[in-house]
Amino acid sequence: MPATLIVGTQWGDEGKAKVIDYLAKETEIVVRYQGGANAGHTVKVGDDKYIFRLIPSGILYPKTICVLAGGMVIDPDAMFQEIGELEAKGVNPMGRLRIADNAHLLMPYHKEIDVRSEEASGVHKIGTTKRGIGACYSDKVNRQGIRIGMLYSDDFFANTLPRLVEQKNKLLTRMYDAPPVNLAELKDKLMVLREKIRDMIVNCPYYLNMELASGKRVLLEGAQGTMLDLDFGTYPYVTSSNPTTGGALTGSGVSFRYLKSVIGIAKAYSTRVGEGPYPTEVFDEEAETLRTAGNEFGSVTGRPRRCGWFDVEVVRHAARINGLSAIALTKIDVLDKFKTIKVATGYELNGKRIDYFPSCSVGDIKVIYEEFPGWNEPTSHITKLKNLPKNTRKYIDALAKYCGVPIAWVSVGPGRENTIAIK
Ligand code: IMP
Repeated sequence: MPATLIVGTQWGDEGKAKVIDYLAKETEIVVRYQGGANAGHTVKVGDDKYIFRLIPSGILYPKTICVLAGGMVIDPDAMFQEIGELEAKGVNPMGRLRIADNAHLLMPYHKEIDVRSEEASGVHKIGTTKRGIGACYSDKVNRQGIRIGMLYSDDFFANTLPRLVEQKNKLLTRMYDAPPVNLAELKDKLMVLREKIRDMIVNCPYYLNMELASGKRVLLEGAQGTMLDLDFGTYPYVTSSNPTTGGALTGSGVSFRYLKSVIGIAKAYSTRVGEGPYPTEVFDEEAETLRTAGNEFGSVTGRPRRCGWFDVEVVRHAARINGLSAIALTKIDVLDKFKTIKVATGYELNGKRIDYFPSCSVGDIKVIYEEFPGWNEPTSHITKLKNLPKNTRKYIDALAKYCGVPIAWVSVGPGRENTIAIK
């Protein structure tokens, strides 16, 4: 059975969780492969709203196994808080959660360093979610990180951890004027943690490829989006992982041979949180209108999201990198009341037309727009493509044509039922 991958095509918050939730009902295993508690995936089921940070939203289906894979940075406090919140709503994740032994542990000092380095930064203030993501991935790349599997080694507690804490304390106290880590407390905390999660630990490449070979269906769930990818996004204003297809493979250990379908999630306009270039951003009243209609406030930080028009060049960039098989177009209903809708259909850089998303000099881009007439009627109740207003269908067709990828789903509202599958 093949694996299906869901990736964000813009700057995150495209509505991935809703599509994952929609597809998870036909899937035995859902896997988060990168990022950490910086994500905020919202799913609405009836009157209940769930916000997922670390745990895949597939957990809402009572038989689905959910995996936190090796490419993730896992904050155990955030994970157990999320488990508690789910249990309070009658969802029981225990017994259905698996954690990769090569995933990295995100420690309180990573959060401290994330916050302090943003405050101290004279180079680039990124506007991070303050969840310690960059600091934890830096340790991983610098080979100073703590893999979950290391918790089961006595040598780790006797030798590695004390040396690590000594080094972190130098950084915290001398560079950031922050309180030091208490080694004894941290040791106790990790000892408790290792017992709590002992039965959840798996060797992810072994587990997932075996399950795929035996016919199980696997859904790989990306967090953030292509434009926040460390390598292909608007560097340095990116997250510290690879949400794109390459990151899904290295982050999960699933063989590329199993990957048969890559679904890109694109919002019918666009948003971005945090600093960094954003070619189609709108301001003032126009931004306020989009923000209010789309309720564009960060689900992790509550920050108002920056808003703008759909950018074809961005989604084409995502299609190219990820090898998109189809697009799920979300939040089209947010545009219901707009008289005209703009779409960026091309760029000029230094007076020349370019047909790619540049790696640098994004701030110098001149955007070429096309205007589409709005439809001025509600769409959220509609369940079939043919019943959408003519101008909505024209808009959807134009985006598919410009992006060069078929649009297979259109989402017209936050609920499970507000999804139109296009045959
Ligand atoms: P970090 O991932 O917390 O280091 O933040 C780096 C950048 O990515 C900041 O601009 C964040 O606002 C952005 N970011 C991180 N996670 C998300 C997300 O899930 N949705 C949207 N933006 C995100």
